[in-house]
Amino acid sequence: MTYARITGTGSYLPDNVVTNKDLEQKVDTSDQWIRERTGIEQRHIAPDHQTTVDLAEQASLRAIEAAAIDPQDIDLIVFATSTPDKIFPSSACILQARLGIQGCPAFDIQAVCSGFVYALATADKFIKTGASKKALVIGAEIFSRIIDWDDRATCVLFGDGAGAVVLEASEETGILSTHIHADGRYEELLHVPCGIASDFERVKAGRAFVEMKGNEVFKMAVNTLGKIVDETLEANQMEKSDIDWLVPHQANLRIIAATAKKLNMSMDQVVVTVNEHGNTSAASIPLALDVAVRDGRIKKNEVVLLEAFGGGFTWGAALLRF
Ligand code: ACO
Repeated sequence: MTYARITGTGSYLPDNVVTNKDLEQKVDTSDQWIRERTGIEQRHIAPDHQTTVDLAEQASLRAIEAAAIDPQDIDLIVFATSTPDKIFPSSACILQARLGIQGCPAFDIQAVCSGFVYALATADKFIKTGASKKALVIGAEIFSRIIDWDDRATCVLFGDGAGAVVLEASEETGILSTHIHADGRYEELLHVPCGIASDFERVKAGRAFVEMKGNEVFKMAVNTLGKIVDETLEANQMEKSDIDWLVPHQANLRIIAATAKKLNMSMDQVVVTVNEHGNTSAASIPLALDVAVRDGRIKKNEVVLLEAFGGGFTWGAALLRF
């Protein structure tokens, strides 16, 4: 049987750090409120000249180096983002050219904060069916460009960044299962309420900003993540105690702690980066994964659960043996 194995991880954060104290100068908020409600202490914000593909390129080069492969061997690029460089072509195509690769399929996936899990699930299926042998899967965002910096309810939450993994076909166990879902009825609880074909005037006015009913999203996220954890364990006939590491989407420390509690996991087994990165949407899971791989916490053969919830609503999980 062929599995898709993660053979390299990489990530990149813009240099510029914005602390909660910095935000206190801009909106009516406090370091204490942000820490207590979200666990966030700071976030990285890209300068105007940097684009989502710029961040993705750096993360990808690091993942390719870690996997010790030639970029020319990559035969699939799946790029999760809700903040692409251009309306078209896709960020995946722009990245492909930057990496000097031609010919392989390259496309974007848009599932907001669940984007990386969606992208990983897609690449896993390409590899399992034999359609691809070496895939580059990226989550990268510059959410700071779709944030109203005068809205204290949202501007304190998000950050910019990128993460990437190389997935290779292998006889060794890798991704065990992926589970992705969506329910579009909740569109308006978390959205940017305009686009190219709807209220384009708002886009042109520079007011295409994230709107969120935070409290309702919070409750749905906690409930839904509990269910996806059960679904994933059941599909693999595994016990909670079989999981070595939880690498969750990093939206809010309280949501992360609720999922850890559901799994009877100590927070020592949970990779937390939300304090330093804020919510980087599709980038948060590959960023957190790379941090924990590089600092030596996640080791080969350990069982890792990735899970995410985001706009759409979309949600998903991936269970893998690293
Ligand atoms: N500083 C100070 N006060 C604030 C701030 C702020 N930055 N933001 C809101 N408040 C106030 C509100 O105005 C409100 O005041 P009021 O009681 O006088 O009306 C009060 O704080 C409580 O507001 P709530 O929204 O009820 O606060 P809550 O405890 O729900 O925390 C939060 C808000 C952090 C946004 C939380 O709801 C949350 O994390 N939600 C989930 C976010 C998420 O997971 N999103 C999914 C992924 S994101 C994606 O897909 C793009």
